[in-house]
Amino acid sequence: MKVTIVGAGAVGASCAEYIAIKDFASEVVLIDIKEGFAEGKAMDLMQCSSLNGFDTKITGTTNDYAKTAGSNVAVITSGIPRKPGMTREELIGINAGIVQSVAENLIKHSPEVILIVVSNPMDTMAYLTHKATGLPKHRIIGMGGALDSARFKYRLAEALDCPTSDVDGMVIGGHSDVGMVPLIGKAVRNSVAVAEFLTAERMQQVVEDTKVGGATLTKLLGTSAWYAPGAAVSELVKAIALDSQKMFPCSALLEGEYGLNDISIGVPCILGKNGIEKIVTVSLSEAEQAKLHESAEGVRKTNGLL
Ligand code: 2OP
Repeated sequence: MKVTIVGAGAVGASCAEYIAIKDFASEVVLIDIKEGFAEGKAMDLMQCSSLNGFDTKITGTTNDYAKTAGSNVAVITSGIPRKPGMTREELIGINAGIVQSVAENLIKHSPEVILIVVSNPMDTMAYLTHKATGLPKHRIIGMGGALDSARFKYRLAEALDCPTSDVDGMVIGGHSDVGMVPLIGKAVRNSVAVAEFLTAERMQQVVEDTKVGGATLTKLLGTSAWYAPGAAVSELVKAIALDSQKMFPCSALLEGEYGLNDISIGVPCILGKNGIEKIVTVSLSEAEQAKLHESAEGVRKTNGLL
C-alpha cells in the first residue's frame, strides 16, 4: 500500500512514524511546501528503520505531487495548527484554501485515492473536501473521533485508576471543544458500565476533560498535539490497508443517518479497503441524540463560513 501524508509537521511526521513502525504499508510519501523539510523528516525516519525494525520505505518531497502518484490513501494534515486560547474553528480562513488545493492535487495524481482529513476545523474541512472533489462519499474520512475516543479512554482509565486496556468508550459528534459527544452512558470497564464504578459527578468530569483534551494540550505545549493525532490517523490507515472492518467514529458525510443531512460529522463507521464500508446507526438515548444534533448545529455554523 502507498500512503501519502501532506504536511511534514509534527502530526504528519508522527503519523508517518507510526505507520512505518506498524509496518503494514510498503511506501509512505511525505510532502510539504517548505524546501527540504519533508525530505529531511523522511530521511530521519528512515534512519530508524534498522532500529525500529520496519521495511516501509519513507520518502519526502517538496511540493512535487507527481511523487504521490498512485497513492491508495492520502492524509491531509496541512494548514496551521491552533495556538493556546484559539478554537479549531478560527483556523478556517487559512486552512480552507490549503485543504482544497491539496485535495485537488492529490486526486489529479491518484484518482482512486481515499482521503483522510485531519486539518482543522476538521469536520468542515472534510465537508469542503466532499464539495470540492465530488469523490464518492465513502472515500473521504474525517479523523477526529478516533483521537477524541483515545482521550476519552485515557480519562476513563484515570478516573477508574485502571489500565487503559480495561476500558472502552466512543466519542461522536463534531471534533470541537464544545460539540463533541463522549458516550459516557455506553462506556465500560471490561464490559461493566462505568456508572457502576464512578459517581455521576466524576463521569461528568471525564466528559468535560475529554471535550477539552486538545485545548488542554495546546495550552501545555503552545501548539496542537501531535503524538495521539498521528497515532489515531495511523490506525485508520491500517484498517483500510488490512481491510479490517473495524469500527471507528469518523467524520462522514451523512444523508439522513441520525436524522442529519448534508453534513460531515463524527459517527461510528466500519473501515475497510473501500474506506468507509458502512455508517453504523447505533441506538442513542434521547439526550445523546439531542447532543449530537446540537453538535451538528455547531458544525453547520462553521460550514457556513466557507
Ligand atoms: C487535536 O485535538 C489537532 O484537533 C487535533 O489535538
